[in-house]
Amino acid sequence: MLRIVVLISGRGSNMEALIRARAAGDLPADIVAVISNRADAAGLATAAASGIATAVVPHGAFSDRAAFDAELARAIDAFRPGLVVLAGFMRILTPAFVTHYAGRLMNIHPSLLPAFPGLRTHERALEAGCKVHGATVHFVTADLDHGPIIAQAAVPVRPGEDAAQLAKRVLALEHVVYPRAVAWFARGELVVENGVVRVTDPAARQLVMA
Ligand code: GAR
Repeated sequence: MLRIVVLISGRGSNMEALIRARAAGDLPADIVAVISNRADAAGLATAAASGIATAVVPHGAFSDRAAFDAELARAIDAFRPGLVVLAGFMRILTPAFVTHYAGRLMNIHPSLLPAFPGLRTHERALEAGCKVHGATVHFVTADLDHGPIIAQAAVPVRPGEDAAQLAKRVLALEHVVYPRAVAWFARGELVVENGVVRVTDPAARQLVMA
C-alpha cells in the first residue's frame, strides 16, 4: 500500500479531503503522517483526531532554507513515504529538496496553471477578467507552482462575484480533484512523458463545472 506524508501550513481542508477519501475507500493508500512548518496549523488537530501521526518542523528555528529543508526531509523520510503531498504548504522549497522527492512530490495550487503562480490567485483572476478559473494538481519541480500537470478543475467566473466567493467555489473543487489525482498516483495510473502527464485509466476525466 502506498504510504503518503501530507505537508500543511494551516487549515488543512485539502488534507481532510484526502482523509475522507481514504475512509470512503476511494484512495488506496495510507496517510502515515501529517507534518507542518507551523505548530498552530489547525489541520494538525484534525489529523491527530483521525489517528494520524503528526510532527512540526518550525521553519523559524532554522538559519536558512537549506537547513530547514534538510530537517523537513529527515522528518518526512522517517515515515518512508512513496508520495509526499503538499496541501496548503506555504514554503518555497529548495531544488535539493525537490530533487530528493522527484516524481513523488505533488502540490495543489488555486489557479489554472500556468496562469497565476504565487499568491492572491483569485484576486488576480478577477482583475484579469478571466471567465474560467480553477485549481491545478501538479508534480513539483524547482519552479514555484510549476511542474507536470496531473489534474485540473475549472469553474465559470460569475459576474459580480468577489474573490472570497470565487475562492470558496474553487476550494470545493480542490477537495474533489486532489483525492482523485492522488488515487491515480496510488493506482499507478500516471505516466510522465517529456514533462507531460498521461492518465492511463481511459475513464479518467478532468473536472469542469457548468
Ligand atoms: C488551498 O486553496 C491550496 O490550493 C492553496 O492553499 C490553500 C490551502 O487550504 N495552496 C497554495 O496556494 C500553494 N501555492 P487548506 O489548508 O484548507 O487545504
